[in-house]
Amino acid sequence: RQPAQSPLFGILQAASDFYGNALHAHPARQTAVQYLGKRGISKDIAGDFLLGYAPPGWDNLLRELGGDSLKEKYLLEAGLLAENPDSGRRYDRFRDRIIFPIRDSRGRVIGFGGRVLGDDKPKYLNSPETPVFHKGQELYGLYEARQHNRQLQDILVVEGYMDVIALAQQGLRNAVATLGTATTPEHIKRLLRIVPTITFCFDGDNAGRKAAWRALEATLEHMKDGISARFLFLPDGLDPDDLVRNEGAEAFRARISSQSQSLSDYFFRHLSEELDLDSLEGKAHLATLASPLIGKIPGHNLQQLMERQLLQLTGLGISQPRPVSAPASQPE
Ligand code: GTP
Ligand code: MN
Ligand code: MN
Ligand code: MN
Ligand code: MN
Repeated sequence: RQPAQSPLFGILQAASDFYGNALHAHPARQTAVQYLGKRGISKDIAGDFLLGYAPPGWDNLLRELGGDSLKEKYLLEAGLLAENPDSGRRYDRFRDRIIFPIRDSRGRVIGFGGRVLGDDKPKYLNSPETPVFHKGQELYGLYEARQHNRQLQDILVVEGYMDVIALAQQGLRNAVATLGTATTPEHIKRLLRIVPTITFCFDGDNAGRKAAWRALEATLEHMKDGISARFLFLPDGLDPDDLVRNEGAEAFRARISSQSQSLSDYFFRHLSEELDLDSLEGKAHLATLASPLIGKIPGHNLQQLMERQLLQLTGLGISQPRPVSAPASQPE
């Protein structure tokens, strides 16, 4: 999935150093420093996450690291340069953005996220897929969480870089984020090799609610007995960053323990939301939706209990489609 050795690691590390130094010393750094201050990020946390700043301009990184044609080729392959398809001109991909280095499980920088300082679009820019960066597998903050606590028991999955960092800032050092993609089964597999409990905590908006259901779907095939996946829904319009800054770590922890739903509760609640379970049609519809999903659960006990729940709600067990009788074969 990821090469053990690649010349890209060196150039990515050098780029990360360049962005990190720029946040401390570049003449244009002041707006970036103020931005992080405004968002409540301390130097300590900025350091733990290697936060940096890509200064304004089209060729800062190119001039600093692109010394010869081989280096320039690596910069391009690492996604640090973009190329104009018509002119072939190469320029820095990240300009005038806060930089979030993304590290793999060994701590090597493999890509970057970059946020604008104001309201420009796109708000976030990510490295493209490269030989060392696969968005569907990596989780932002996982390396840092494990560095902080070697005996992690549970992990919080959130949407954004700033959610991970704001939670860390308040002492919740176990949050990770998918990289602008939906949660994938590969993400879940990775997490469950590390901890038995995952709590999903996405934004209190439509995108966040959709992301939660996608995460449930990605988790089903990994729901062995003994592991637990929970879902915490946040008040409308708020994300974990907003909330933990408003109410502090203790209240946030209390929310997780008292308001999060188990996968099975969320499952039946969500699927029943728009159905009338007093009608046979509603029951039939629920069974149709739920059966194939319950069928994916590898944990025998959980699968049986969810089947039983479905039976209680609808009177139907996991549907075993009757064999369709083969159409009478046509005479030759
Ligand atoms: P802040 O405004 O900095 O607090 O960001 P946020 O994380 O709250 O952003 P939002 O809830 O809008 O989006 C959640 C995540 O989706 C972000 O952290 C990004 O990873 C991703 N995302 C948001 N906007 C964009 C975008 O314009 N482009 C890309 N590629 N990803 C985005
Ligand atoms: Mn520290
Ligand atoms: Mn959102
Ligand atoms: Mn958000
Ligand atoms: Mn936010």
